[in-house]
Amino acid sequence: MCMQSQVLFSASDISGRVRALGAEISEWARGLPEPPVMLWLAEGAVVFAADLMREIGCDMQVVSLKVSSYGASLKSSGTLRYSRDFCEFAGKNILLVDDISDTGLTLREITGKLKDSGALQVKTCTLLCKPGKCAGARRPDFVGFDAPDSFVFGYGLDFSGRFRNLPDIRILTKE
Ligand code: IMP
Ligand code: MG
Repeated sequence: MCMQSQVLFSASDISGRVRALGAEISEWARGLPEPPVMLWLAEGAVVFAADLMREIGCDMQVVSLKVSSYGASLKSSGTLRYSRDFCEFAGKNILLVDDISDTGLTLREITGKLKDSGALQVKTCTLLCKPGKCAGARRPDFVGFDAPDSFVFGYGLDFSGRFRNLPDIRILTKE
């Protein structure tokens, strides 16, 4: 492997931040008349969602949505495909969870589709946000860390389908 990387956020940085996010989200959820739905985006949010849901101290439904926006390349394809019908979320309050917001396109599109299908509140949460790119887009409601505008992987985020199982988040320094 000739690629080089360095740790951007360690496993302990991440667990501390995920705990704090869980507390913030619990406060939001406690104010709702009914338990919300945590809708997490596969595969990238798998590790984050698993940790986050256990830091949320109230009842909720947990559902995954398979969304594809990245292929084998590091650049977004700009086209999204979904694994479920958004109508099932009509009348629900949603916490939409992803690993990272880059251009903001993924969250914007899914939020729009949920609202068009009759969802009530849609709150967005990402572990990472690239604020340089997010500038024109709406910042997620709950963000773990701001990240530099470079490719990152680990803790669920893949690099060409690999490295999702790394316990920390790494930044690619050389391909
Ligand atoms: P956006 O639609 O441009 O905000 O891109 C968000 C999606 O692209 C996320 O769901 C990730 O799967 C993927 N993504 C964006 N940046 C990275 C990165 O640095 N590493 C891995 N995946 C990324
Ligand atoms: Mg993704």
